[in-house]
Amino acid sequence: MNTLIENTVQFVKEKLQGAEAGHDWFHIERVWKLSKKIANTEAANQEVVELAALLHDIADPKFHDGDESLALTVSKDFLQSQNVSDEVTSQVLFIIQNISFKNRGEVPDILPIELQIVQDADRLDAIGAIGIARTFNFGGFKNNRMYDPEIPPRIGMSKEEYKKSNGTTINHFYEKLLLLKDLMHTEKAKEIATKRHLLMLNFLDEFYREWKADE
Ligand code: ADP
Ligand code: NI
Repeated sequence: MNTLIENTVQFVKEKLQGAEAGHDWFHIERVWKLSKKIANTEAANQEVVELAALLHDIADPKFHDGDESLALTVSKDFLQSQNVSDEVTSQVLFIIQNISFKNRGEVPDILPIELQIVQDADRLDAIGAIGIARTFNFGGFKNNRMYDPEIPPRIGMSKEEYKKSNGTTINHFYEKLLLLKDLMHTEKAKEIATKRHLLMLNFLDEFYREWKADE
Protein backbone atom coordinates (compact mmCIF):
# COMPACT_ATOMS: atom_id res chain seq x y z
CA MET A 1 0.00 0.00 0.00
CA ASN A 2 1.40 3.43 -0.81
CA THR A 3 1.88 6.07 1.88
CA LEU A 4 -0.97 8.30 0.71
CA ILE A 5 -3.48 5.45 0.89
CA GLU A 6 -2.06 4.33 4.25
CA ASN A 7 -2.41 7.86 5.67
CA THR A 8 -5.95 8.09 4.32
CA VAL A 9 -6.88 4.81 6.01
CA GLN A 10 -5.55 6.13 9.34
CA PHE A 11 -7.34 9.45 8.93
CA VAL A 12 -10.70 7.83 8.10
CA LYS A 13 -10.43 5.29 10.94
CA GLU A 14 -9.89 8.10 13.43
CA LYS A 15 -12.69 10.25 12.04
CA LEU A 16 -15.21 7.43 12.11
CA GLN A 17 -14.63 6.29 15.68
CA GLY A 18 -18.02 5.86 17.33
CA ALA A 19 -19.92 5.97 14.01
CA GLU A 20 -23.22 4.09 13.65
CA ALA A 21 -22.44 0.46 12.71
CA GLY A 22 -23.78 0.73 9.16
CA HIS A 23 -21.60 3.74 8.37
CA ASP A 24 -18.44 2.89 10.32
CA TRP A 25 -14.88 2.06 9.24
CA PHE A 26 -15.92 -1.49 8.28
CA HIS A 27 -18.48 -0.10 5.80
CA ILE A 28 -15.69 2.01 4.31
CA GLU A 29 -13.35 -0.97 4.18
CA ARG A 30 -15.95 -3.08 2.33
CA VAL A 31 -16.65 -0.27 -0.15
CA TRP A 32 -12.91 0.23 -0.66
CA LYS A 33 -12.37 -3.49 -1.37
CA LEU A 34 -15.39 -3.70 -3.69
CA SER A 35 -14.25 -0.54 -5.49
CA LYS A 36 -10.80 -2.04 -6.12
CA LYS A 37 -12.39 -5.24 -7.38
CA ILE A 38 -14.66 -3.37 -9.81
CA ALA A 39 -11.84 -1.00 -10.86
CA ASN A 40 -9.81 -4.02 -11.96
CA THR A 41 -12.44 -4.65 -14.65
CA GLU A 42 -12.58 -1.02 -15.88
CA ALA A 43 -10.14 1.56 -17.23
CA ALA A 44 -10.15 3.92 -14.26
CA ASN A 45 -7.72 6.02 -12.25
CA GLN A 46 -6.99 3.68 -9.33
CA GLU A 47 -5.80 6.44 -7.00
CA VAL A 48 -8.97 8.52 -7.48
CA VAL A 49 -11.12 5.41 -6.93
CA GLU A 50 -9.34 4.45 -3.71
CA LEU A 51 -9.28 7.95 -2.23
CA ALA A 52 -12.95 8.53 -3.01
CA ALA A 53 -13.98 5.13 -1.61
CA LEU A 54 -12.07 5.84 1.60
CA LEU A 55 -13.37 9.39 2.04
CA HIS A 56 -16.96 9.05 0.74
CA ASP A 57 -18.70 8.94 4.15
CA ILE A 58 -16.22 11.03 6.12
CA ALA A 59 -18.90 13.49 7.26
CA ASP A 60 -22.28 12.11 6.20
CA PRO A 61 -24.89 14.92 6.37
CA LYS A 62 -27.39 12.60 8.07
CA PHE A 63 -25.10 12.46 11.10
CA HIS A 64 -24.08 16.14 10.95
CA ASP A 65 -27.37 18.06 11.17
CA GLY A 66 -27.82 17.88 7.40
CA ASP A 67 -24.60 19.81 6.71
CA GLU A 68 -23.80 18.87 3.09
CA SER A 69 -20.57 20.83 2.75
CA LEU A 70 -18.69 19.47 5.77
CA ALA A 71 -17.52 16.28 3.99
CA LEU A 72 -16.07 18.39 1.19
CA THR A 73 -14.22 20.74 3.51
CA VAL A 74 -12.82 17.92 5.63
CA SER A 75 -11.71 15.93 2.57
CA LYS A 76 -10.22 18.93 0.79
CA ASP A 77 -8.19 19.94 3.85
CA PHE A 78 -6.94 16.38 4.25
CA LEU A 79 -5.98 15.93 0.57
CA GLN A 80 -4.18 19.27 0.54
CA SER A 81 -2.28 18.32 3.70
CA GLN A 82 -1.05 15.27 1.77
CA ASN A 83 0.05 17.36 -1.24
CA VAL A 84 -2.39 15.59 -3.56
CA SER A 85 -2.59 17.40 -6.92
CA ASP A 86 -5.46 19.82 -7.56
CA GLU A 87 -6.70 17.64 -10.37
CA VAL A 88 -6.98 14.45 -8.28
CA THR A 89 -8.43 16.45 -5.39
CA SER A 90 -11.21 17.90 -7.52
CA GLN A 91 -12.06 14.49 -8.99
CA VAL A 92 -12.29 12.96 -5.51
CA LEU A 93 -14.44 15.85 -4.21
CA PHE A 94 -16.79 15.52 -7.19
CA ILE A 95 -17.36 11.86 -6.31
CA ILE A 96 -17.99 12.58 -2.63
CA GLN A 97 -20.48 15.27 -3.58
CA ASN A 98 -22.43 13.16 -6.05
CA ILE A 99 -22.33 9.61 -4.72
CA SER A 100 -25.41 9.72 -2.51
CA PHE A 101 -28.66 7.92 -3.35
CA LYS A 102 -30.72 10.91 -2.27
CA ASN A 103 -28.87 13.20 -4.70
CA ARG A 104 -29.69 11.06 -7.74
CA GLY A 105 -31.60 13.22 -10.17
CA GLU A 106 -29.36 16.21 -9.51
CA VAL A 107 -26.27 14.72 -11.16
CA PRO A 108 -25.11 15.07 -14.78
CA ASP A 109 -26.04 12.35 -17.29
CA ILE A 110 -22.50 11.16 -17.97
CA LEU A 111 -20.63 10.22 -14.82
CA PRO A 112 -16.86 9.74 -14.62
CA ILE A 113 -16.00 6.04 -14.47
CA GLU A 114 -14.40 6.54 -11.04
CA LEU A 115 -17.71 7.85 -9.67
CA GLN A 116 -19.61 4.98 -11.28
CA ILE A 117 -17.30 2.48 -9.60
CA VAL A 118 -17.44 3.91 -6.07
CA GLN A 119 -21.19 4.48 -6.32
CA ASP A 120 -21.69 0.86 -7.42
CA ALA A 121 -19.54 -0.36 -4.52
CA ASP A 122 -21.42 1.80 -1.99
CA ARG A 123 -24.75 0.54 -3.37
CA LEU A 124 -23.60 -3.09 -3.27
CA ASP A 125 -22.89 -2.66 0.44
CA ALA A 126 -26.49 -1.43 0.87
CA ILE A 127 -27.98 -4.70 -0.45
CA GLY A 128 -27.61 -8.42 0.27
CA ALA A 129 -26.98 -9.83 3.75
CA ILE A 130 -24.88 -6.86 4.84
CA GLY A 131 -27.46 -4.47 3.42
CA ILE A 132 -30.21 -6.14 5.45
CA ALA A 133 -28.11 -5.96 8.62
CA ARG A 134 -27.17 -2.30 8.05
CA THR A 135 -30.75 -1.33 7.39
CA PHE A 136 -32.09 -2.88 10.58
CA ASN A 137 -29.21 -1.38 12.51
CA PHE A 138 -29.97 2.08 11.13
CA GLY A 139 -33.70 1.64 11.80
CA GLY A 140 -32.91 0.71 15.41
CA PHE A 141 -30.55 3.66 15.72
CA LYS A 142 -33.47 5.90 14.60
CA ASN A 143 -35.91 4.02 16.84
CA ASN A 144 -38.08 3.26 13.78
CA ARG A 145 -40.52 0.36 13.70
CA MET A 146 -39.30 -2.81 11.95
CA TYR A 147 -42.60 -3.26 10.15
CA ASP A 148 -46.16 -2.01 10.31
CA PRO A 149 -48.69 -3.49 7.87
CA GLU A 150 -50.72 -0.24 8.14
CA ILE A 151 -47.92 1.95 6.74
CA PRO A 152 -47.39 1.48 2.98
CA PRO A 153 -43.99 2.21 1.35
CA ARG A 154 -43.59 5.59 -0.37
CA ILE A 155 -41.87 5.18 -3.71
CA GLY A 156 -40.48 8.23 -5.52
CA MET A 157 -40.07 10.51 -2.50
CA SER A 158 -38.38 13.87 -3.07
CA LYS A 159 -34.96 14.37 -1.51
CA GLU A 160 -36.50 16.31 1.40
CA GLU A 161 -39.21 13.69 2.04
CA TYR A 162 -36.62 10.90 1.86
CA LYS A 163 -34.37 12.55 4.46
CA LYS A 164 -37.27 13.20 6.84
CA SER A 165 -38.90 9.82 6.34
CA ASN A 166 -39.28 7.82 9.54
CA GLY A 167 -41.22 5.00 7.95
CA THR A 168 -40.56 1.39 8.81
CA THR A 169 -37.37 -0.49 8.10
CA ILE A 170 -39.20 -2.98 5.87
CA ASN A 171 -40.49 -0.05 3.81
CA HIS A 172 -36.91 1.06 3.24
CA PHE A 173 -36.48 -2.08 1.11
CA TYR A 174 -39.16 -0.79 -1.32
CA GLU A 175 -38.12 2.86 -1.07
CA LYS A 176 -34.45 2.21 -1.77
CA LEU A 177 -32.83 -1.22 -1.48
CA LEU A 178 -34.83 -3.09 -4.14
CA LEU A 179 -34.30 -0.25 -6.61
CA LEU A 180 -30.51 -0.42 -6.47
CA LYS A 181 -29.97 -3.49 -8.67
CA ASP A 182 -31.18 -1.59 -11.74
CA LEU A 183 -29.11 1.48 -10.93
CA MET A 184 -25.73 -0.29 -11.12
CA HIS A 185 -23.41 1.11 -13.79
CA THR A 186 -20.65 -1.49 -14.23
CA GLU A 187 -20.98 -5.06 -15.47
CA LYS A 188 -19.11 -6.45 -12.45
CA ALA A 189 -21.45 -4.69 -10.01
CA LYS A 190 -24.54 -5.82 -11.95
CA GLU A 191 -23.35 -9.40 -11.61
CA ILE A 192 -22.81 -9.12 -7.83
CA ALA A 193 -26.09 -7.20 -7.38
CA THR A 194 -28.18 -9.96 -9.00
CA LYS A 195 -27.24 -12.42 -6.27
CA ARG A 196 -27.66 -9.93 -3.42
CA HIS A 197 -31.04 -8.77 -4.75
CA LEU A 198 -32.38 -12.31 -4.79
CA LEU A 199 -31.32 -12.81 -1.20
CA MET A 200 -33.36 -9.75 -0.15
CA LEU A 201 -36.45 -11.01 -1.98
CA ASN A 202 -36.14 -14.35 -0.19
CA PHE A 203 -35.63 -12.58 3.11
CA LEU A 204 -38.81 -10.51 2.63
CA ASP A 205 -40.83 -13.64 1.74
CA GLU A 206 -39.66 -15.34 4.92
CA PHE A 207 -40.21 -12.19 6.98
CA TYR A 208 -43.90 -11.95 5.97
CA ARG A 209 -44.38 -15.67 6.46
CA GLU A 210 -43.03 -15.53 10.00
CA TRP A 211 -44.90 -12.27 10.71
CA LYS A 212 -48.14 -14.14 10.12
CA ALA A 213 -46.80 -16.89 12.39
CA ASP A 214 -46.79 -19.30 9.46
CA GLU A 215 -44.26 -22.08 9.63
P1 ADP B 1 -26.72 7.36 0.92
O1 ADP B 1 -25.80 7.48 2.12
O2 ADP B 1 -26.15 6.60 -0.25
O3 ADP B 1 -27.42 8.63 0.52
P2 ADP B 1 -28.87 6.51 2.50
O4 ADP B 1 -28.82 7.80 3.21
O5 ADP B 1 -30.15 6.14 1.87
O6 ADP B 1 -27.80 6.39 1.38
O7 ADP B 1 -28.48 5.41 3.53
C1 ADP B 1 -27.41 4.50 3.55
C2 ADP B 1 -27.84 3.26 4.32
O8 ADP B 1 -28.39 3.63 5.61
C3 ADP B 1 -28.99 2.52 3.64
O9 ADP B 1 -28.56 1.64 2.67
C4 ADP B 1 -29.63 1.82 4.79
O10 ADP B 1 -28.95 0.66 5.18
C5 ADP B 1 -29.53 2.84 5.89
N1 ADP B 1 -30.74 3.69 5.89
C6 ADP B 1 -30.89 4.93 5.41
N2 ADP B 1 -32.17 5.39 5.60
C7 ADP B 1 -32.82 4.38 6.23
C8 ADP B 1 -34.16 4.19 6.74
N3 ADP B 1 -35.09 5.14 6.63
N4 ADP B 1 -34.45 3.01 7.35
C9 ADP B 1 -33.52 2.06 7.47
N5 ADP B 1 -32.27 2.15 7.03
C10 ADP B 1 -31.90 3.30 6.41
NI1 NI C 1 -21.28 4.71 2.14
